[in-house]
Amino acid sequence: MISIDVKGLSKNYQIAEKEPGLRGSLKYLFLRTSREVKAVQGINFSINEGEMVGFIGPNGAGKTTTLKMLCGLIHPSSGLISVAGYKPQRRSPKFLRKITLVMGQKQQLIWDLPPIESLLVNAAIYGISESETKRRIKNLGEMLELDDELYRPVRKLSLGQRMKAELLASLLHLPSVLFLDEPTLGLDVNSQIRVRDFLLEYNRKYGATIFLTSHYMADITSLCERVLVLHKGNLFHDGSMASLTEKLTPYRSVKIEFSNLYPLSEFRKYGSIHESNDHYVHLLIPRERVIPNISEILEKYSVTDLEIKDPPIENLISRLFLKDSKK
Ligand SMILES: Nc1ncnc2c1ncn2[C@@H]1O[C@H](COP(=O)(O)OP(=O)(O)OP(=O)(O)O)[C@@H](O)[C@H]1O
Ligand SMILES: [Mg+2]
Repeated sequence: MISIDVKGLSKNYQIAEKEPGLRGSLKYLFLRTSREVKAVQGINFSINEGEMVGFIGPNGAGKTTTLKMLCGLIHPSSGLISVAGYKPQRRSPKFLRKITLVMGQKQQLIWDLPPIESLLVNAAIYGISESETKRRIKNLGEMLELDDELYRPVRKLSLGQRMKAELLASLLHLPSVLFLDEPTLGLDVNSQIRVRDFLLEYNRKYGATIFLTSHYMADITSLCERVLVLHKGNLFHDGSMASLTEKLTPYRSVKIEFSNLYPLSEFRKYGSIHESNDHYVHLLIPRERVIPNISEILEKYSVTDLEIKDPPIENLISRLFLKDSKK
């Protein structure tokens, strides 16, 4: 069953522009000029129920804009969206019960109150019975390793505890579609791992669809088999992380250590030499040549150690986007 379906989705923002100085201000009063920002430019994708999909791309790519449209917080300029069978723009109560939006940089919990107070308010809004509320707080609290923290004012919690309490509040109605915008923003590595483990458990337990953005690639690689890459409002990639790596680099990194000394020039035919010293060479070998070249090297030379890797995905992506912004 399809959970999220997006066809030809676009969003243009109109931005009023003012020239600097008094003259600009006067002109602005009478002749407002505006510029259009094409934040999302006709994207298509669909996500099945229970899938966990990563949504990545550089700053300003249009990720948050897309998530806001999927939740119905802003209206698309054009295109069609269906989430859990509903049109998000209508913000119908039934739709709102099915989804949640968690934004790492925004909080819903009230600073001076303990999270439990906000949880009870949420429970009332969603019409969850008292006993059911208790049960859910207990279950989700256990999954999130939250206990006493729920009874302490939010301002006294660590960032990691606060984020976990935010998640509990956002999930009390047990939504089946989760939109997460940088849920691990600013968290230390341990808290990031906790949040990730929790999301995985929630996904398994409730069969929920999870669509998440993050600038921490570890969130994406550890949770999502599928990744959508957005770049300047366009989908650059929709597929596995492995196929993204293949798309971004036609080479693999091969590090070899030898017990004997060999002339470096002998290795040029196998690939480009990235680094070397007496008993070591680091080659970048075209993907399709990796197996035959390494077999030949193992046959001809006395190899003591061998490591074949893809360059780190972070490097590949930032290099791609850097290259692009220089154009
Ligand atoms: N309310 C708005 N009014 C005008 N322009 C906007 C508005 N919100 C976003 N934009 C512009 O739309 C583009 C996409 O922004 P968006 O916030 O969706 O990017 P993002 O991928 O979430 O970036 P980041 O990784 O920094 O969070 C940017 O050029 C941004 O400046
Ligand atoms: Mg954003």
